[in-house]
Amino acid sequence: AKPIRVALLGCGVVGSAVARMLVTNAADLRARVGAPVELVGIAVRRPAKDRTDLPVDPATFTTDAAELVTRADIVIEVIGGIDPARELLLSAMAHGASVITANKALLAEDGPTLYAAADAAGVDLYYEAAVAGAIPILRPIRESLAGDDVRKVLGIVNGTTNFVLDKMDTSGAGFEETVTQAQALGYAEADPTADVEGFDAAAKAAILASLAFHTRVRGADVFREGISDVTAADIAAAKAMDCVVKLLAICERTTGPDGDGINVRVHPAMIPRSHPLASVRDAYNAVFVEAQAAGQLMFYGRGAGGDPTASAVLGDLVAVARHRVAGGRGPGESAYADLPVLGIGTS
Ligand code: HSE
Repeated sequence: AKPIRVALLGCGVVGSAVARMLVTNAADLRARVGAPVELVGIAVRRPAKDRTDLPVDPATFTTDAAELVTRADIVIEVIGGIDPARELLLSAMAHGASVITANKALLAEDGPTLYAAADAAGVDLYYEAAVAGAIPILRPIRESLAGDDVRKVLGIVNGTTNFVLDKMDTSGAGFEETVTQAQALGYAEADPTADVEGFDAAAKAAILASLAFHTRVRGADVFREGISDVTAADIAAAKAMDCVVKLLAICERTTGPDGDGINVRVHPAMIPRSHPLASVRDAYNAVFVEAQAAGQLMFYGRGAGGDPTASAVLGDLVAVARHRVAGGRGPGESAYADLPVLGIGTS
């Protein structure tokens, strides 16, 4: 069969793990897809950076992402941020490429525009890596539970904050000191704002709620409170009540006298130590789902890091490449219900 041309946008922690897996697993990918999967280009900002540890031809690297997306069957975006990622993905789809992205911020800001572009071009838009890294959670919600009625999604979807809260719990140390430690260990970013203030978790909550409830929720719709005000005394008080403090993303369907709605929020919460979410340690993630017929489901695993996130990207790659070979497309946007997003405390 004709080779599937793959373009990779971004070569940071996740991008380099994706490139390595693509090359190392090429024979398996070929067998699973039914066609060779070829990495035709990697768009980078700093071409001079030493990437000799990657098993790819140096000629694969380019600084011209706009040109690269016009000559691929599948474009994988792991740059992050809104622009230029949005323009590049829209251009890729307009040129007929299917798109795989790990970009939670972009999906939470402007998902419907991406879906519309995918529909117009008749291509796939997959983004399993955007929420909870390696944990397969979007495909189960989007496909496996599509015949059920999801009532609630509850998750620890940010590894950095879970790491910090867990360390505060075991050491008794304060927030600032623990974040500095987390940065030194490579868990927290140099600018940890998106993680500690809950923006990253709010974007993921918006994506989860949109898929679970077949509606449109934007990151800005989500009530958000981060962990920067959580003190050592708060953790100690929780401990005294046999509880732990976790940053939770909570998506709930609500019914009331005024009709149906949803409640989506991110905030620190006290959880009894006996609750399964309390046992989620270090930088791990977990997502709990409750559906009408299925009952309660729990998903657990690594939510961040190069290899775990690359695992989710490669899973999407195989799915999308199979469609290229056999025809057909994955699910599109399922937003049919215009449910009001209610503020905290109104459910
Ligand atoms: N910074 C995120 C986290 C990983 O700490 O979970 C990417 O979403």
